[in-house]
This record gives sequence, C-alpha cells and structure tokens, in this order.
Amino acid sequence: MPKPKYHIIICTNTRPPGHPKGSCGEKGAQNVAMKFSEELEKRSLFGRVILSGSTCIGMCNFGPVVIVYPDAVWYHGVTANDVTEIMNEHITNGKPVERLMIPDSAWGE
Ligand code: FES
Repeated sequence: MPKPKYHIIICTNTRPPGHPKGSCGEKGAQNVAMKFSEELEKRSLFGRVILSGSTCIGMCNFGPVVIVYPDAVWYHGVTANDVTEIMNEHITNGKPVERLMIPDSAWGE
C-alpha cells in the first residue's frame, strides 16, 4: 500500500445533552464522518486518504472539528454540506478552505 497522502481526523466524541462543554457528536459529527466516507468511496480514495474518528481533541466550542494532516489544518463547525468543498478544494486541489479554518485568535500560547 502506498503511503497515504492525507489523514482526515473527525472528532466524534459525544457528551450527554446539556453538558456544559457540548460535543462534536451532539452537533452532527457522525453525519460529517459518513459524508467523508461516501466521498472517499465515490472518488476511490480509500488507502490514499485515511479517515479516522477521534475522542475529544480539545476544541469543543468549535465542533464538529475536522483536522487534515499532514497540513495540520483544523476546521470548525463542519457540517455534511461542507464536506464536498473540503474534498474538492483541500484534498483534491491542496487549498485549505479558509472560511472553515479555526482562526489563529482561538489558540492560546
Ligand atoms: S468534543 Fe470534539 S473537540 Fe471536544
């Protein structure tokens, strides 16, 4: 198997309704993961693009969070409707979707 070009990580962590931190899972992360999986299958990219679900990755306020490596691009508030754009622009053309990127100001020191 050739080395994968991209690794897409989706936080699918779910907390109970009403939890003060919220969670990507309760904001629809499973639908996002399913849409990515469909897109990878449609484009025959399995093996070249790896898709993983993860537990909490610490940016719960911004969920659903999707990270694309090796670019270390963090996307926020991703919905199933955003997936095709990420696939077309980032995964296919190598251009991250700026409107969905977590802003630099959100990161602490
Ligand atoms: S629950 Fe997804 S980043 Fe915390």
